[in-house]
Amino acid sequence: MRSLIDIFDLSVAELDGLIEKANDIIDNPAKYAESCKGKKLATLFFEPSTRTRLSFEAAMLELGGNVIGFSEASSSSAAKGESIADTAKVISGYADIIAMRHPKEGAPYVASKNATVPIINAGDGGHAHPTQTLTDLLTISREKGRLNNLTVGFCGDLKYGRTVHSLISALTRYEGIKVVLVSPEELKVPGYVRDGLLIKNGMEFVETTDLDKAMPELDILYMTRIQRERFPDQDEYERLKDSYILTLDKLENAKKDLSILHPLPRVNEISVKIDADPRACYFKQAYNGKYIRMALILKLLEDAKNGIEGEDIEKDCIVNEIRCKNPSCITSVEQELEHKFRYADEDGGVYRCIYCEKKGKKS
Ligand code: NCD
Repeated sequence: MRSLIDIFDLSVAELDGLIEKANDIIDNPAKYAESCKGKKLATLFFEPSTRTRLSFEAAMLELGGNVIGFSEASSSSAAKGESIADTAKVISGYADIIAMRHPKEGAPYVASKNATVPIINAGDGGHAHPTQTLTDLLTISREKGRLNNLTVGFCGDLKYGRTVHSLISALTRYEGIKVVLVSPEELKVPGYVRDGLLIKNGMEFVETTDLDKAMPELDILYMTRIQRERFPDQDEYERLKDSYILTLDKLENAKKDLSILHPLPRVNEISVKIDADPRACYFKQAYNGKYIRMALILKLLEDAKNGIEGEDIEKDCIVNEIRCKNPSCITSVEQELEHKFRYADEDGGVYRCIYCEKKGKKS
């Protein structure tokens, strides 16, 4: 069964195809109004969401399909201690496709190994958020007319911001991209992004704390919220929460055709005064999200019909030889899950957990 857990589950040709399809849906919505007639999408949201869940639901409804689901863990059997595997098996009998958001990293992957319908990762902890990346790619391509030869700045919480990790993953596949990482020291990108993606792929990148200095060269500025819910130490959150606030005066040195993106929700990191500036693209970005999710649902249902399988990332992994120590990994709460690690040879010869990508050492 083909699922979307990580943006690498899609080839570049497939990404291009989804963007093309989303643009066609935007131009000709009536053509797709019955494409999913009789099909059901289940939205299993174990963590809060506005845009992602509702854009998935709106997407399925606009394709003529139906939607079932829940929007908080407390109203599901997770509150009784049901495992992800069991939930996935059960819901596979009720729906044709599942979008799942979960606070534990790797939970949608576990679901995909147990479901008999496609699973879409709608955000797993601080790890990945591939459908936000599809939204971002569609937005960049509509705004700039290209996905290559761009200088892309990421600003804010690059440690816990899953949208950042997935978008950087996607950008490694396009030519002429320079990445500028702007964050406090404490919130730099994790090792699997820095070593495992940027260095491994020979990408041009810089890490800095200074947004003002970085601003003039940027084509895209991807602002992010400091992810309060992921901080083990709330005092640290309080100290870092206002690290970057984008105001109109900060845009004085920016390119005239800069595109400002933000996955939303915004807290205070972009002044509302910027909303009227033509460079502000974040509401258009949220709007694009519905259309690319329509394209994705169509594709995954089509692949399922044609029996297309996803790549097996477990073929060379080692089982129960290393234990994952990441408290946000799904293995930290589901005791019976096997601990599985992959050898990442090009990535400095380390082992990475297949669920959360954190490093582990053989003892
Ligand atoms: C993001 C998320 O959930 O990771 N929101 C979204 O899906 N649009 C970003 C965030 O919560 O800060």
